[in-house]
Amino acid sequence: MQELICDVNTVFSTYSGELGKVETELLNLFNSSALMIPSIGGHVVRSGGKRLRPLFLVLSAELCDYRGHPRIILASVIEAIHTASLLHDDVVDSAELRRGRPTAHSVWGNQVVVLVGDFLYSNALRIAVHQENQKIMEALSEATARMTEGELLQLSRIGDPEIKEGEYLQIISAKTGTLISAACRIGAILGNKERRYEEALSRFGMKTGMAFQMMDDILDYMAVESRLGKRPGKDLEEGKITMPLIYLLQVCNKEEKWEVKEIVTGMGVDKRSDDSLARLGFLFQKYNIIEESMNRAQGLVQEAKEALEVFASSPASEALFCLADYALFRSS
Ligand code: IPE
Ligand code: IPE
Ligand code: MG
Ligand code: MG
Repeated sequence: MQELICDVNTVFSTYSGELGKVETELLNLFNSSALMIPSIGGHVVRSGGKRLRPLFLVLSAELCDYRGHPRIILASVIEAIHTASLLHDDVVDSAELRRGRPTAHSVWGNQVVVLVGDFLYSNALRIAVHQENQKIMEALSEATARMTEGELLQLSRIGDPEIKEGEYLQIISAKTGTLISAACRIGAILGNKERRYEEALSRFGMKTGMAFQMMDDILDYMAVESRLGKRPGKDLEEGKITMPLIYLLQVCNKEEKWEVKEIVTGMGVDKRSDDSLARLGFLFQKYNIIEESMNRAQGLVQEAKEALEVFASSPASEALFCLADYALFRSS
């Protein structure tokens, strides 16, 4: 795979002023007299996070020559929806670590965190309604509905080694692609651009988002906990069958396939054991699985970039390309 030639830090620092304002609006979205809401807000907002989705929105708006304050408000709305989805996702996945800190539910308990997630989803949409823009509301409500469908579809396929690559792609497009797609589409809506530009940005976000999730699934096998801020190896433990395993099951021999299925379904072999992970690591190496999975993610980024060809090249389009490449080269 090629190297990351652009400097994503420069892109972030160019927009640091606006991203700072997004942080303030994001914290405001946790304002409530129900005190657990701002407490959890402080915990999750101050724990960091890459803030990729707000940047996708701001850069898409920039590409469409829109620089008004609503791009900051809507960037915070997008990040709030992402944050709500993580609060719920960590409950569903029983995750203990997020962004290098204990997950909110491990501090406050599942009941409180599920309700705070509900509040945050609704409050984000409430703030978006103030923009009085029907198309923006359509993009946001479509994304939130489809994200939940994606998580549910994933749950229905837990521990099933017969899952097809197409189904996996459907899951990642719904749970991750739709929100990044909405972020980019909103940039075009704010800029009042013609339909084809809106569709192009939407497609760019969808493909980039899918590549981003695919890399997240690869990093789950590869990454170092201290860098990732969450515990690697969790997908296998949860029975989540993602690109590397799907690809391995496509190419390995019959005996290995049987063995991998045993590991995945947890029959015979302890699926939590380091031995299982080590065995998969060996097979991944034997069949070049990680590199091949990365190539697939790279293919998605390529498709994402092609979608933006309707736009003339500009610093904003270059920055969006850089962000898309970053999805492939990140380590956290
Ligand atoms: C984590 O998203 C969940 C996925 C969609 C893979 P991010 O990797 O963007 O999480 P933060 O916000 O930077 O922590
Ligand atoms: C992403 O799925 C979560 C959402 C899109 C809501 P994962 O379960 O893979 O995300 P991490 O690995 O916990 O961040
Ligand atoms: Mg998770
Ligand atoms: Mg993951």
